[in-house]
Amino acid sequence: MVPVDCSYQVTVMCGIIGFTGDGKALEVLLKGLRRLEYRGYDSSGLALLTADGIRVVKRVGSVENLEREASSLRDVKSSVGIAHTRWATHGGVSDRNAHPHTSCDGRVAIVHNGIIENFEELRAELEERGHVFSSETDSEVIAHLLEEELRRRPDDPRGALTSVVRRLKGSFAFIAISTWTSDAILGARYNSPLVVGMGKGFSIPASDVLSFLEWTDDAIFLENESCAIVRPGSVESWLITGEDLDLKVAKVAIEVSEVEKRGYVHHTLKEIHDQRVTVQRTLTQDLGPLEEAAKLLRGASRVFLVAAGTSYHAALVGRHVLAELADVDAQPVLASEYALASRWVNGDSVVVAISQSGETADVLEAVRDAKSKGAKVIGVVNMPGSSLERLSDVHINIRAGPEIGVAATKSFTSQVIALVRLACAVSGREVTLDAEELGRCVEEVLEQEPQIAEIAKDLKDSKDIYLVGRGVHFPIALEGALKVKELAYVHAEGLPAGELKHGTLALIEKGTPVIVLNPSDETYVDTLSNCQELKARGATVIGISDRHHPSYDFFVRVPRTSSKFASVLLEVIPLQLLAYYMALERGAEIDRPRNLAKSVTVK
Ligand code: F6R
Repeated sequence: MVPVDCSYQVTVMCGIIGFTGDGKALEVLLKGLRRLEYRGYDSSGLALLTADGIRVVKRVGSVENLEREASSLRDVKSSVGIAHTRWATHGGVSDRNAHPHTSCDGRVAIVHNGIIENFEELRAELEERGHVFSSETDSEVIAHLLEEELRRRPDDPRGALTSVVRRLKGSFAFIAISTWTSDAILGARYNSPLVVGMGKGFSIPASDVLSFLEWTDDAIFLENESCAIVRPGSVESWLITGEDLDLKVAKVAIEVSEVEKRGYVHHTLKEIHDQRVTVQRTLTQDLGPLEEAAKLLRGASRVFLVAAGTSYHAALVGRHVLAELADVDAQPVLASEYALASRWVNGDSVVVAISQSGETADVLEAVRDAKSKGAKVIGVVNMPGSSLERLSDVHINIRAGPEIGVAATKSFTSQVIALVRLACAVSGREVTLDAEELGRCVEEVLEQEPQIAEIAKDLKDSKDIYLVGRGVHFPIALEGALKVKELAYVHAEGLPAGELKHGTLALIEKGTPVIVLNPSDETYVDTLSNCQELKARGATVIGISDRHHPSYDFFVRVPRTSSKFASVLLEVIPLQLLAYYMALERGAEIDRPRNLAKSVTVK
């Protein structure tokens, strides 16, 4: 028996995929795992239902490791299976803790995303009844509970599944196969995403539409707090409370080619380059009911912009955008720090929730809280069908296309453009950005890639890098710092240029690299004097501006544009490229930085 220790393995932010259909389970699962790799993971595994029972393979490390291991199953005929990429938060990572997990008799296998908060209590209870656990995960309890229930009522999988799900506390999405349920995959979701790809004679339940795009673009997004039995080409679903659900098949408007690297070495580099197209797309195409969203904002007594990470930096830019273009006072709130803001949220408030994935747990929790207080929610989302999209009263799709690199790049520029369009809808004015000009300017910035790659060589061994800007350029300094940290693993700090003298200047010595965002707008003169203070202390200054100045040791020119918010979009691109090339120089794993996951589905 494996003792439960306090460093138990909590399984979070994982990828889930299953297949039930016509004998090609292994192929679909392995391809699906490849597609899920972008989310970040430390181990992977799969289980197939065969004539001789359930066969499981799982391995720490890359999906390639698992593929090698799974070659023993190549000749096994199987039409039903489940698979998983795992990303753990606590304790070590081991084959034993990788998913799938099986029940004692091996007749049930499950894969799970989320946290079972009451697992210790459930595990103690199951052990008392003689169950033997083989991992330290919270997830394994699901396999043992299902085994008990299915053994008790093998002809009633719906009853068995409902009764198990009602015992679980936490947030979860799981799918399960069993020797009692032949071609059926049992699944459930509670505050964690689960969608089913639907094809002729097959179904693919998964945590993410990108994992099954090459097989089908028809999808059923399962309701939150629901259970499902997925059979080849059909799904039955009901709320945990027991009420039957009417399911609708939606078309996923993403081409498989959009998730390929298309000749680029890394998704991240491709996505930086994609911006020449995505900025124009977000600027010109239908993003959804902007007018309806604008009406909500016009009537709001308080507006909150809730987001995490890069999306929070877009919210910080959004604050300027809404103030300057629509005279709306919006308060940016970090989703993980929303608790304080919550006391001011009421029925007259509007929460604008910004999230690329639409699955960030802290954002969703804030949204649920806001809704419970009667506030209206505008979701600004990239992934179609996401939980945020479904929870929002009105949602705006930023149309950046799938973002596979863990570091957000093109979603940031599209978020900012969507906020500019929203602000213009509020004030009833023409959108202040010109699509053609913006596309041309992005191109001009990208043309400086070789020169930026050279600067990256000089900066790659820096211990610390500082980035400064004033006003709306300060959030870009924060975003640039985040890119350098997560891609190149170099410490970087973004700060308002005017704050330097209040402390951080003490850290500047000969050769300390400082990136100065200094476009020729109302911030120019003051930022330039900060730049000279930096020079006087020996800093190596990298100027990013439409205007050269002799105090810059390195200079990246961003074109002058007719709109201040366009220059904001343009100055982030050299920072994305700089972080990318620093990472390349340092040999970092660019598309999947260590310890990070694309979608942070737990708090
Ligand atoms: C940084 C990054 C993260 C995300 C954050 C929020 O490059 O990707 O900081 O921005 O996890 O994710 P979304 O936007 O999906 O809510």
